Amino acid sequence: VRPLRVALLGCGVVGTEVARVLLDHPDDLAARTGAPLELVGVAVRDVTRPRDGVPAELLTDDAESLVDRADLVVELMGGIEPARSLILRAIAGGAGVVTANKALLAEQGPVLFEAADAAGVDIAFEAAVAGAIPIVRPVRESLAGDHVTRVLGIVNGTTNYVLDEMATKGLDLDDVVKQAQALGYAEADPTADVDGFDAAAKAAILASLAFHTRVSIDQVAREGIRSVTADDVEWARRTGHVVKLLAIAERTADGVSARVHPALVPVEHPLAAVRGAFNAVFVEAAAAGPLMFYGQGAGGRPTASAVLGDLVSVARDRLIGGKGSFESAYASLPVLPADAA
Ligand code: NDP
Ligand code: HSE
Repeated sequence: VRPLRVALLGCGVVGTEVARVLLDHPDDLAARTGAPLELVGVAVRDVTRPRDGVPAELLTDDAESLVDRADLVVELMGGIEPARSLILRAIAGGAGVVTANKALLAEQGPVLFEAADAAGVDIAFEAAVAGAIPIVRPVRESLAGDHVTRVLGIVNGTTNYVLDEMATKGLDLDDVVKQAQALGYAEADPTADVDGFDAAAKAAILASLAFHTRVSIDQVAREGIRSVTADDVEWARRTGHVVKLLAIAERTADGVSARVHPALVPVEHPLAAVRGAFNAVFVEAAAAGPLMFYGQGAGGRPTASAVLGDLVSVARDRLIGGKGSFESAYASLPVLPADAA
C-alpha cells in the first residue's frame, strides 16, 4: 500500500504534538490505518524557529504548495484566514481534512461541509470541541437515531482553569489567564476564551450536531467571565457554590436555543468537581437518557489525541473509498435569535 501523504498546517501547541506522534510512532499509526502516514511538510509562519522534535527540512511557509501535494490535510493554524482558504483548497484537490478550528467551523461550517460533500471527501473535527473528550462523534453518530433534547456543560478549559485558580488561590483573573496561556490552554488571543467566544463556537457546533440544524456563533447568546471577580468567587464558595462558565443548547417549543454564561453551580453537582482545564458535557436524549462526557478539554497532548483519532479515521475512509456525510445530516430547525436565549 502506498503511504498517504499528510500535510500539517501549524506547528504550535497542538501541531507540535501531532507532528511528534506522526514522526515517532509511524508503525502504530500504519497498523491502525492500514497504510503508512507520511508527514510530507509542516506549514508555519516562521520557518527559522526550531520546533522541538520536528526536522527543519519539513518546515515551509508555502502552505498552498504543501496542501497541493497531500492526501490528508491537518489544519492546526487557527483563525479564519488563511485556514478557510487552505481547507477549501485541500477539499478541491480531493484531500481529506482534519481540523481543530472551532472558530472557523462555527462561522463557516456549512461552506466547508457543502464543499466536502460535493467533493466526496471527509472533514473531521473531534478536537474542535472539548479537547480530548470524544463528544463530536457520539453526538453526531452514536446518537443519530435518538432525539437529543439538551446539551449542557463546561466546554472551555481556560476559563475553567482560571475560575478554579481564582477559587482555590484567590488570584486575579488577569494573572491566571497568563498561566493558562503558558500551559497551552488559551487561544492565540485569550480574549476568545475569557469573553466566551470559544465556548460559544463550541456550543454552536454541538447544537448543530445534536439538533441536526445550523447554528452559527452569532446565534449563541454569550457572556464570558471578564466581569467575575475574586470577591464573586469567594462569595459563591461561602454560599456552597462554585462559579462555572456553562454552555447550554436545548430544544425549545419554537426551535433551538444556545447560550454561554457564568453560573453558580451547587458544590454537590458533578460539574462543580470539574477542576483545572478539564471539561464535562451532559447530553440528554429521549431514549438514551442522560449521558456524561468528561476529560481534558485543552492542551497540546490531549488535543493531539483527538486530532490523530480523526486522522486515522479519515485515512481509513480514504483507503476504502468511503466518507462520512455532515451536510446531509442537516434539517432546518429554526434557531432562536441570540437575544431570545
Ligand atoms: P498555536 O498558536 O500554538 O499554533 C498555531 C500554529 O499555526 C503556529 O505554528 C503558527 O506558526 C501557525 N500559523 C498561524 N497562522 C499561520 C499562517 N498564516 N501561515 C502559516 N502558519 C500559520 O495554536 P494551537 O496549537 O493552540 O491551536 C491550533 C488550533 O487548535 C486552533 O484552531 C485552536 O483553536 C485549536 N485547539 C487548540 C487547543 C489547545 O488546547 N491549544 C485545544 C483544541 C483546539 P508560527 O509558529 O510560525 O507562528
Ligand atoms: N482555548 C480552548 C480552551 C482550547 O481553553 O478550552 C480547547 O478548545
